[in-house]
Amino acid sequence: MTGGGKVVAGNWKMNHGPREAQAFASRLRLPDGSSAEILLFPPAISLAGVREGLEGSGLTDRIGLGVQNVHFEDSGAYTGETSVRMAAEAGAGHVLVGHSERRHVFGETDADTARKVAAVFRGGLIPVLCVGENLQEREAGRVEEVILRQLETVLASETIRLSMASDDAGFLLAYEPVWAIGTGRTATPDDASAAHAVLRSHLVERLGDRGRHVRILYGGSVNPDNAGDLMSAAEVDGVLVGGASLDPGEFSHIIGAA
Ligand code: PGA
Repeated sequence: MTGGGKVVAGNWKMNHGPREAQAFASRLRLPDGSSAEILLFPPAISLAGVREGLEGSGLTDRIGLGVQNVHFEDSGAYTGETSVRMAAEAGAGHVLVGHSERRHVFGETDADTARKVAAVFRGGLIPVLCVGENLQEREAGRVEEVILRQLETVLASETIRLSMASDDAGFLLAYEPVWAIGTGRTATPDDASAAHAVLRSHLVERLGDRGRHVRILYGGSVNPDNAGDLMSAAEVDGVLVGGASLDPGEFSHIIGAA
């Protein structure tokens, strides 16, 4: 874990079009003295709206922007897709890769996520790789096996490991148990710590010292009431917030808990 502040990231999923995005960003107020690193992942089509709103509220320099998905090719005949270069040009610095909805609703495989992480590094942006087990896997005692498989598919690529080893290549990991996403059922801080510790030791085994500095975020029904406890848990370097990031007041409370 790094010594810096916590990361508070908001994943809007398929919510807030350009106008609502602008309104959100112009209404967002940060708690006094907050040192959290703040990231927002609006729908790609709403990035410009968020940027305009942030300019209005004077927060452009305080909030990093990202997209929720990219294609792994740099350009071409891929109707409906967004490339890393396009995302960067629209103002994204980060990219969510392998969110459970991408995996389970859109059938994205571990191999796809590895190709996307490679594309994000190639384009000079920062991937936020999401991993997490579903309820059946948790109940079968397979948490460790599942999350390590999802992480290792990415780390198995030498190109990716070399990108990660370079000093300025950022990489974040998000542990998001599928049973906790959008369900109101949150992992306990101890559950989160245990999973994060498993991921941390694998990162260190594969990346050496660099693995100690990868920030690991927890995601799954984070809200203003539980964010503080989760972020105080060992190995939890921040949170990835879905539903509770849609309202500027609630999101600001979570930032305040960091
Ligand atoms: P949630 O979503 O906070 O609404 O559970 C988290 C996520 O999917 O990133």
